[in-house]
Amino acid sequence: MRTIKRDAPILLEVNNLSTDFLVAGQEPAHALVDINFRLREGEVLGIVGESGCGKTTLMLSLMRLLPANGRITSGQINFMNNDLLDLSEREMGDVRWKNIAMIFQGAMNALNPVHTVGRQIAEAIIQHNYITDKKAVTDRVVELLELVGIGAERKDQYPHQYSGGMRQRAMIAMALACNPQVVIADEPTTALDVMIQAQILELLGTLRDKLGLSILFVTHDLGVVAEMCDTVLVMYGGVTAEYANVDTIFNAPQHPYTQELLRAFPDLTKPMEKLISIPGYPPRLNALPAGCRFAPRCPHAFGRCHVEAPPLHGVQDRHFASCHLVEPESNISPETPEFPGKSNEL
Ligand SMILES: Nc1ncnc2c1ncn2[C@@H]1O[C@H](COP(=O)(O)OP(=O)(O)OP(=O)(O)O)[C@@H](O)[C@H]1O
Ligand SMILES: [Mg+2]
Repeated sequence: MRTIKRDAPILLEVNNLSTDFLVAGQEPAHALVDINFRLREGEVLGIVGESGCGKTTLMLSLMRLLPANGRITSGQINFMNNDLLDLSEREMGDVRWKNIAMIFQGAMNALNPVHTVGRQIAEAIIQHNYITDKKAVTDRVVELLELVGIGAERKDQYPHQYSGGMRQRAMIAMALACNPQVVIADEPTTALDVMIQAQILELLGTLRDKLGLSILFVTHDLGVVAEMCDTVLVMYGGVTAEYANVDTIFNAPQHPYTQELLRAFPDLTKPMEKLISIPGYPPRLNALPAGCRFAPRCPHAFGRCHVEAPPLHGVQDRHFASCHLVEPESNISPETPEFPGKSNEL
């Protein structure tokens, strides 16, 4: 397994980020509450959890691209020592794509059918003022297409002449257009068949190594996590259930939600076991249970879980979980400077 350098510089540091959605006539939906993580240079951080747990909301919050009824209510998003929440819209526009680019969920269907793929990638370059010289733009389009494994001769073709996998490659090329340090990939392989899925994952892995990219990888597929990620943030109902390196998540998960997620995932190395599904549904965000959000579905819940929300605390060095059953073994908390800083690196 690949290991990222423990002392690689932190590129993105998210502290206590919370986001609400406002819906007329209803209580605000608390879609994200106190999310904390660090992303280092060259690291792939997987964001996992069931549908509706807030993965896309977290990514859109980072990009400051929430829908009109979304509000970031607290927190910091420090990117190379600037809080993105303090930037003007214009300054943020510069950060998007040039520093942090996003491959949106379902992106491969977002290509415009009436323009060639090459033209659409060129527009992304020109729009963000990355290069303005016409010849240089064309060269860059060809370079990007080749980087993602598409021959230059296909730049003048239309999206319908591309297969699904090629359209997704083109979207990845577009995200890389302005040479960002961080790429957010929101379920980049979900709609693809397994063979193509494997090729796209391989491509992202190659790009990570070749370009030194840091990647925030959103998925609900634990197989993809095992293959791609260095560290993992497990989300449940808008909060962090568990945060640790990928080995720890698979081999020593502490939060009952992570354990249940793993039991719902086939392990080919073990004898055949019955797969389980987690009974019940995620919570409604504007009618949250008192206490732990997972308690109504948790097989281990006891009295306290239904009245008091467990904070995210350090289980061991480099391992964090929010569960009353998990004994904190240290004083690490998201508020302490160690989280997950020098002495407790992930
Ligand atoms: N514009 C909106 N207004 C109100 N609620 C919203 C809005 N967008 C998302 N939500 C709610 O916020 C929660 C998180 O949604 P989000 O799309 O972030 O989930 P997700 O983890 O990305 O799910 P999926 O795996 O299905 O993509 C869900 O309960 C969703 O219904
Ligand atoms: Mg989503």
